[in-house]
Amino acid sequence: MAVRIIATGSFLPEKNVSNDELAQYVDTSDEWISSRTGIRNRRIAITETTTGMAVQSARRALEMADRSPLDVDLIIVATVTPDYGTPSAACQVQAELGADHAIAFDINAACSGFVFALNVARMYIETGYSTNALIIGSETLSKILDWNRRDTCVLFGDGAGAAFLEKSDRGIISVVQGSIGKKGMVLNFINRKTNNLFVNEPVETDYLHMDGQEVYKFAVRQCPKCLIEAMEQAQLTVEDIDYFVLHQANVRIIESVAKRLKAPIEKFPMSLGYTGNMSAASVPVMLDQLVREGSLKRGDKIAISAFGAGLTYGAAVLEW
Ligand code: COA
Repeated sequence: MAVRIIATGSFLPEKNVSNDELAQYVDTSDEWISSRTGIRNRRIAITETTTGMAVQSARRALEMADRSPLDVDLIIVATVTPDYGTPSAACQVQAELGADHAIAFDINAACSGFVFALNVARMYIETGYSTNALIIGSETLSKILDWNRRDTCVLFGDGAGAAFLEKSDRGIISVVQGSIGKKGMVLNFINRKTNNLFVNEPVETDYLHMDGQEVYKFAVRQCPKCLIEAMEQAQLTVEDIDYFVLHQANVRIIESVAKRLKAPIEKFPMSLGYTGNMSAASVPVMLDQLVREGSLKRGDKIAISAFGAGLTYGAAVLEW
C-alpha cells in the first residue's frame, strides 16, 4: 500500500508585479533581480487572502479528484502567513469548503511546509487514521515584507497550491525531513514576544529578515544532500527521475543542485520567473502546472525538495 497524490490545484492573485514596476518604488533593477535570482514577475495579493487562496486551490484539486468537500478526512495547511493566529488557516479552509468531516490544522515549516505536510498526511493515511488528505501551501508573504528593503522584497510572491492524497498501489516512495533550529535566525520574522500589563518595553513589530548568503549556502548544501538520501531510500538514481520539482527560490540554487546531482537542467521545471518565491506554495503550484500542461504523467518518477526558514529542509521521491 502507498499514498498517492491523485489531484492538484493552484491559485495565484490577480495583480502581477514585474521587476520594472518594482524598480519604480525600490532602488533596484530588472537586471539585478533577474540575473541573481531568475525572478521577473510575482503575483501580489490585493484583495486575496491566505485562506481565500487556499480555498480556491483546494476546490480545483477536489474538482480534479472528483471528490466532494464532505469526503475530505484531513486538511493540513502549510503557511507562515495565516490570516489569523487562531483559528488556523486549515480550520478556516474547512469552514469555507464545508468539509465538515475533516480534521484540520496548520504546519509552520516555512518553505519546506509542503514536504512536511506531505509526510504527515502520508502517515495519517498509512496508519489508517485518515482515508485521504487535502494538503495546501498558501502564503501572503507580501504582508510580512519590508517594502523599503530591496534585499528581501524583490524575492517573494503570493499564491497557493493544493494536493489531494489517497491510498493507492503506488505513490510516495520515500520522504526525508530535517531541521536545524540553531541556525534559525538567518531567516526570521518576529512575532510579539511579550505584551501584557507588566511589560514596559514597547511591543516589537517587524518584517522578514534574511542573511541571503547564509541561506544560499544552506540551500545548495542541504537540498542535494536530502535529495540523494531520498533517492537512495527509494533505490532509484538520478537517471530514473523524470522531474526534480524543487522549491522555487532562486534559479542559481536550482542550477547548483542540478550540477551537484549531475542531472540535466531540463529535468528541473521552474515557475519562479513568474511567481517569485512563494514559500510553502512553491512546490504545489509547480506540480499543478506540470499536471495541467500534461508534462507530468502517471508512472513518472519525480523527486521534490524544499528548504527554508527554521531552518528546515526535506525531499520526497514519488511515482506519480
Ligand atoms: N537590487 C539592487 N541591489 C541590491 C538588491 C536589489 N534588489 N538587493 C541587494 N542589493 C545590493 C546589496 O545592497 C549589495 O550592495 P553593496 O555591495 O553595495 O552592499 C549587493 O547588492 C550585493 O548584495 P549581496 O547580498 O552580497 O548579493 P548576493 O549576490 O548574495 O545576492 C541574494 C543576494 C538574496 C540574491 C542571494 O544571497 C540569494 O539568493 N540568497 C538566497 C535567498 C533565498 O533564496 N531565500 C529564500 C530561501 S527559502
